[in-house]
Amino acid sequence: MLPEKFDTIRRQWRSELFSTEPWIPSADPPIKPGEAGGYRVKSGGLVAYLKPTNLCPEDHPRAANEKIVSDLAFELSMSVPPMLLYRRTAPPPTEETRCCVSLILYPSVYEWEFLWNMATFPESVQQIIRTMISRYSSTLALDLLIHQTDRNNQRNGVFCTDPGNPTYGELLFLDHSNTLNFQNRWNGDAWKRMEMINIPATFRGSIDKARVIEGAKQIESLPDATIRAIIDRIPDDFMSRAHKERVAMGLIGRKSLVRPFVESSL
Ligand SMILES: Nc1ncnc2c1ncn2[C@@H]1O[C@H](COP(=O)(O)OP(=O)(O)O)[C@@H](O)[C@H]1O
Ligand SMILES: [Mg+2]
Repeated sequence: MLPEKFDTIRRQWRSELFSTEPWIPSADPPIKPGEAGGYRVKSGGLVAYLKPTNLCPEDHPRAANEKIVSDLAFELSMSVPPMLLYRRTAPPPTEETRCCVSLILYPSVYEWEFLWNMATFPESVQQIIRTMISRYSSTLALDLLIHQTDRNNQRNGVFCTDPGNPTYGELLFLDHSNTLNFQNRWNGDAWKRMEMINIPATFRGSIDKARVIEGAKQIESLPDATIRAIIDRIPDDFMSRAHKERVAMGLIGRKSLVRPFVESSL
């Protein structure tokens, strides 16, 4: 579900690891920071959201999680913004240096909070929205793979449009800080635990099971070597070696658990 318009930049950000752009805070209307802290930045013609500013304990490698999930999503053609690691130099001492930048592709961004107020829309509009979000059903397979726990959140999905060009637009899934092995929750055999993700009720009611299964099949055919390469290139200070090993083991192991889980639980 990715418009070709952004092919080049998506490919470039997937191939690179760190951003070397001289990002500066943007004077555009600020984005209300989320739990991780962050702010809108710009460089040249590019705009992004820089996060986290809040310090991250070693067992909560937010920036590394974001980059790993964004790279996985690219491989699976799933709708997650391009992400690069970014080392902040000389931030205030209480703020994080190990950050990432999430590329803002579109001029208009609408958080999906209105899905919680569907009853206020005419029935026709409700149906159009359901049809539209149903096309993104396969992303549920990615969320299951990465053990997302933060999707039933009014800000972690955004509808993006370009008012000057209605051809382009997409629903982007954001915020992969609380995924993978965060807080060492994939210890021991715990990485095997598959649980249905809490997602907005409207999205849940629009899910197309066949599309989720398609997503799960794509995940099964993602080569282990690709997963390993995505994880291994993360620097050790962004994610410790032991943590990376656990993430690789978890993702490679969970690859084959997603489809049977979807088939039996959706
Ligand atoms: N690539 C992006 N495109 C558009 N908006 C974004 C992007 N990244 C972040 N945002 C905005 O910033 C908000 C906070 O980002 P998020 O990744 O959810 O941070 P946190 O982990 O602090 O909640 C999002 O709800 C969204 O409004
Ligand atoms: Mg968030």
